[in-house]
Amino acid sequence: MKLHEFPRHPLTFGPSPVHPLNRLSDHLGGARIWAKREDVSSGLAYGGNKVRKLEYIVPDVLASGADTLVSIGGYQSNHTRQVAAVAAYLGLKCRLVQEKWVPWEDPVNDKVGNILLSRMLGADSRLDPHGFDIGIRDSWKEALAEVEAGGGTPYPIPAGASEHPLGGLGFANWAFEVAEQEKALGVFFDTIVVCTVTGSTHAGMIAGFAALEDLTGVRRRVIGIDASATIDKTRDQVARIARHTAELIELGRDLRDDEITVLEGWAGDLYGIPVDSTMEAIRLGAQFEAMITDPVYEGKSLAGLVDLVRSGDIPASSTVLYAHLGGQQAINAYHRLWS
Ligand SMILES: Cc1ncc(COP(=O)(O)O)c(C=O)c1O
Repeated sequence: MKLHEFPRHPLTFGPSPVHPLNRLSDHLGGARIWAKREDVSSGLAYGGNKVRKLEYIVPDVLASGADTLVSIGGYQSNHTRQVAAVAAYLGLKCRLVQEKWVPWEDPVNDKVGNILLSRMLGADSRLDPHGFDIGIRDSWKEALAEVEAGGGTPYPIPAGASEHPLGGLGFANWAFEVAEQEKALGVFFDTIVVCTVTGSTHAGMIAGFAALEDLTGVRRRVIGIDASATIDKTRDQVARIARHTAELIELGRDLRDDEITVLEGWAGDLYGIPVDSTMEAIRLGAQFEAMITDPVYEGKSLAGLVDLVRSGDIPASSTVLYAHLGGQQAINAYHRLWS
């Protein structure tokens, strides 16, 4: 099927806003930087990138007759909060496995922010001591079995909705949305920068921009900035999901290696733990643009963007689009970074 033929259940206000980051661009003195804001594009419990992925998954949920969405993430998972929001919105139940993905010892880490919201949204959110892994987890399989044993009909949504067969479609469509916005704004983004962890956001973009390139003949760089600190797994997952999504939307060719770029260097040693470059990027975003980014994801991808612009790897002649994927709800669990 072609991308526009896949059913999509609207969960956003429409195209996410695109705007220039003029003060940040002037400060860095290189490429012009713009942002496209998944963090302010849905009314469902603050939204974020998973809502866009879920727009393509919900038709399958509804067709399946399931009554319970079952998903997994860390204590401060943005993804599980968005699954809880979509479940509430659709009148479904929600069972969440919240693993201890981040060794961040703060007494409110399992109480505020995303997990608070998931509980408020009515999800059955349970803590699990297992550590970080973007793959398929036993704890999640057990939760699925439990729902079934209790007489429910579970619908499985893996971490980040990434390993779901339809998980890449939302951000494949993002590429076409960008092309429409470029026309309206009279601008062309030759470089896209996006945070990548479980992979389907970046992978979807790769497939979508490849399809766009085949239509228009215009190439651009789509740069994923790793925030997983498990770079090999994330690279593999991005490549696999990008190829799967490309096949799904009938790209009709294999993806070139140069279309799949995941850069490392800004994740630090551990997923979820900020490093100096993260803190500097968060400060720059906040103090030049009042654009809030978080220490787990967007602060790390913004740090990558800042360095690539400063070093001229993204040249001064470029116009670059920073994909802001949400994630601010976690910041209260990180209060001591600013106190
Ligand atoms: C705010 C935020 N940014 C970036 C990402 C990374 O997206 P993905 O898991 O699709 O690679 C996530 C989720 O994992 C997220 O919640």
